[in-house]
Amino acid sequence: MKDLVWDKTLSVDVPEIDADHRRLLELFNRLGHAVEDGEPQAVIEATLDELISCTAWHFQHEERQMEKHGYPDLPAHRAEHAELIESGQALLEALRQSGAPLSAQQIASLEHWLTGHIYGSDMAMGTYLAEAT
Ligand SMILES: [Fe+2]
Repeated sequence: MKDLVWDKTLSVDVPEIDADHRRLLELFNRLGHAVEDGEPQAVIEATLDELISCTAWHFQHEERQMEKHGYPDLPAHRAEHAELIESGQALLEALRQSGAPLSAQQIASLEHWLTGHIYGSDMAMGTYLAEAT
């Protein structure tokens, strides 16, 4: 599995949000390595759990920033966050039920789960916040 590398194309132009995103990418890479290295299932589950918890914490951080600066698309952005957390938790639940490590397809969908939102809604949010701050 190829590591995700943070670069300028992922920057939303708000340094503290970029710093969170880098951390999430690192956690994603750690999860990929755990699967690749055949770590015990408990380690894989705990790492995915940590990725989801950190993402939830980070989403609250973004939402506070959007609230503070009166971001007009906050309701839609918040709804997208809720959906992402829900799908992340569904994946964790499926993992716990199956007792099998993540498949290559699940890792690929998790990569999209992580970067799709950054490349999409977060860019618009970042442009707004960078101007507002
Ligand atoms: Fe976001």
